[in-house]
Amino acid sequence: MIYKKSYAAQLISLNPPAREFAEAFAPSNIALCKYWGKKNLDLNIPATPSLSISLADRGTKVQLSIAPRNSLSINSKNITEESPAFKRTFDFLELFMAKNIKLAVQSENSIPTAAGLASSASFFAALTIAIDKLCNWQASLQTLSCLARLGSGSACRSLHHGFVKWLDYDDPFKSYGIPMNVRWEELRIGLLIFDDKEKSMPSRQAMLHTQNTSPLYQAWCNNSRTDFEVVHAAIKKKNFQTLGETAEYNALSLHAVMLSARPSIIYSQPETLKAISKIHALRQNSILVYFTQDAGPNLKLIFLENDLECILEDFPRMEVINPFSRVDNVES
Ligand code: DP6
Repeated sequence: MIYKKSYAAQLISLNPPAREFAEAFAPSNIALCKYWGKKNLDLNIPATPSLSISLADRGTKVQLSIAPRNSLSINSKNITEESPAFKRTFDFLELFMAKNIKLAVQSENSIPTAAGLASSASFFAALTIAIDKLCNWQASLQTLSCLARLGSGSACRSLHHGFVKWLDYDDPFKSYGIPMNVRWEELRIGLLIFDDKEKSMPSRQAMLHTQNTSPLYQAWCNNSRTDFEVVHAAIKKKNFQTLGETAEYNALSLHAVMLSARPSIIYSQPETLKAISKIHALRQNSILVYFTQDAGPNLKLIFLENDLECILEDFPRMEVINPFSRVDNVES
C-alpha cells in the first residue's frame, strides 16, 4: 500500500515555497455518472468510472499566503481549528509542506458551500493549483489532478473545463481527470437550490456507509459501469435524450442504493420530489429536461438552450449555467 505522503512525493519534488502568495480558481463539477465508493480509501481510488461537466466560472477561488500561523476562511468567515474543514485542509497541505511552514488559506465560492454542489471538489482543485504556483512545481494538469484527488476524489475532475471522465484504474498514477474533446454549446445546467445549509451527512461518510452496509452496492457498481459507457457515447454523438435519461437514471439509482444502506441515507426533501414530478410532467409535454442529484436535496437540471424559456416558467428561480461559456484552461 502506498500512503498519501509517499505517493505525493513520487509525483512532485517537495520544494519549499518559492513565493509568499499564490491564487487560483477551479470550477465546480457536476457528475452525470457518479463516483460513489472507493477501491482504496487512503488514495481515493474510485470503485467505478465517473463523468462530469464543469460549471465554467462557478467554482472556488483560493488565495494562499505564507503566514505566522495556519488559518482558513471560507467566504470571509474564519473556520476554527477544531472544525473538520480546517483539519481536512491542513492534513492535505501537510502532504506538501514542511511542518514549520504556516499558511493562510482564503477561499471564496461562487456556489453554495456543502449543499451537495460539489464545492469541496472545486476547493481542492483550486488549492492544488495554488500550491503548484506557490512552490513553483510547474506540474502537469495530470499530476495536479492526481494530487487534488487526495483532498477529495471528485476534485480530480475540476482541473478541467467541459466534460471530464475519471476512469477506475487500480493504478493510482493513472487515476486522474481526463478532459473530453467535445464542446456542446447548447447544453445548459440549471441549479435548483432548495437548501443551502450543510449536508445532513457529508458525501465521504455517506459513500463509505453505503459501500459497507448496502446489499445492493455491487449491483450499483455494475449498473454504473454500463451507465458510464452510455453517457460517454451519448456525449460523443451529442445524443441529448440518451445523455439525459442515463444521467437521471444514474442519479436515481445512486439514491436508491443509499436508501438500501443500514441505516438508510435520505437526502431528498419534499421540494426535491415536487420538482422531480414537475420535470417528469415537462417531459410528457415533449420538453427534454432531466435532472441529477448529489449528496443533498438540490437538483441540477440538464437541458438544451432552446427549452430554457419553457423550463423557466415552471422553475422561475432556477440559476442557469452555460458550461461552455469559457474557452481557456483551468490553469490559465
Ligand atoms: C455525490 O469527492 O466528495 O458528488 O473522495 O470522499 O472526498 P471524497 O468524496 P467526494 O464525493 C462526491 C460524490 C458525488 C458524486 C460525484 O461527484 O461523482
